[in-house]
Amino acid sequence: MRLNPVDLIVKKRDGGCLTAEEIGFFILGAADDSWPDYQVAAMLMAMFLRGLDTGETAALTLAMAASGDQLDLSGLPGRKVDKHSTGGVADTTTLVLVPLVAACGVPTVKISGRGLGFTGGTIDKLESIPGFRVALGINEALDQVRRDGLVIMAQTDRLTPADRKLYALRDVTGTVESIPLIAASIMSKKIAAGADAIVLDVKCGNGAFMRDLPLARQLARTMVDIGRQVGRKVTAVISDMNQPLGQFIGNTLEVMEAIKVLRGELEGDLLDVCLTLGSEMLLAVDAVRDEGQALQMLRQALESGSALEKFSRLLSSQGGDARIIDQPWRLPQPASRAQWCAPCDGYLTELDTAGLGHLFVALGGGRKTKLDPIDYTAGFILHARLGDYISKGMPLVDIQASDAAKISQVIPALHNLIKLDDKQPTAKPTILDIIRG
Ligand code: URA
Repeated sequence: MRLNPVDLIVKKRDGGCLTAEEIGFFILGAADDSWPDYQVAAMLMAMFLRGLDTGETAALTLAMAASGDQLDLSGLPGRKVDKHSTGGVADTTTLVLVPLVAACGVPTVKISGRGLGFTGGTIDKLESIPGFRVALGINEALDQVRRDGLVIMAQTDRLTPADRKLYALRDVTGTVESIPLIAASIMSKKIAAGADAIVLDVKCGNGAFMRDLPLARQLARTMVDIGRQVGRKVTAVISDMNQPLGQFIGNTLEVMEAIKVLRGELEGDLLDVCLTLGSEMLLAVDAVRDEGQALQMLRQALESGSALEKFSRLLSSQGGDARIIDQPWRLPQPASRAQWCAPCDGYLTELDTAGLGHLFVALGGGRKTKLDPIDYTAGFILHARLGDYISKGMPLVDIQASDAAKISQVIPALHNLIKLDDKQPTAKPTILDIIRG
């Protein structure tokens, strides 16, 4: 019998279970535009409200992965590992982690995205470096990995086109925060990118799509299970996102922060998450015996300068100005700066992390629509972490941008995003759980 969109939407709307063939028909229709946007959106809402079982989620993932090109990394030596974050604020891990793991001898082809909603994107950060090219052809990328051991590039138009279509519609139809839809979106891209093993950084907290640990665990287990079904080893690290991961929020600012970490000048949560993810990446491809050896190797790559050297190679190979490593003033500089000081004494008990992400977009650092230009210099530097004691008048947030009027507009909003209290909050760990496939 010929399949038709309305029947499938009604089936899902009424709580039915779609077959792999029906899901394949939906994804094909979304990718080649034979299903109009309103029918794709109606199906997404039905999926969002009714959910998808394990079989449907796997079928959706595979159909999306097969909707475009799939990379063949078998020509590269050894087992390949990839990583992906579910999205957060000041999440600079890729810029630190990819050179770090490459310096340990494990080649990495990393396909990254741009900022999405209140979350930042690695590609925007890299594009803030003068000359850096993110649009590489597949052969060029593979040559670079063979030569340098690492590449970070933007998703090509031909990789998982169905995900691009679905994601753009989910973004504007209130259907983003669905575990099966997020799992299929992420895992389809990772499967198409061709690595043998995948390490996922599942963010959890008020700056992430998954607000609490049970939800984050459910998403993590769903992606690990998909990996098992398609023969890829998946590890999910669940990490805290109840405050920005790094101290710096912004495109040029996060490049500068990554360089500080790679130089060994900055410890803290960002480095801790990178070391945990890096250790899981090395373990996933059997490059090390155990976690102890992995951490030793990663620390050695930082201390010897070899991770920084890999970052420098990445910049030069992709046309970027590697002099920014020693001369950060070569990055675009903000025309205007301001400082926000603590209005009273107290412990820093709460940061509205998604709120800070939205404020960063308002400052010009992110996009409200797909085609908006962005101000690479816009951003915040936070001078305290949750639990720190702050005295009245102490500078808490530096604000910078190329547009002074925008700085004046966002400053009043900071009052509502940062809470100081007399009671010291209990310290919470940064790594909340690790689920290995
Ligand atoms: N990141 C993705 O790539 N897809 C989602 O659906 C959510 C986060």
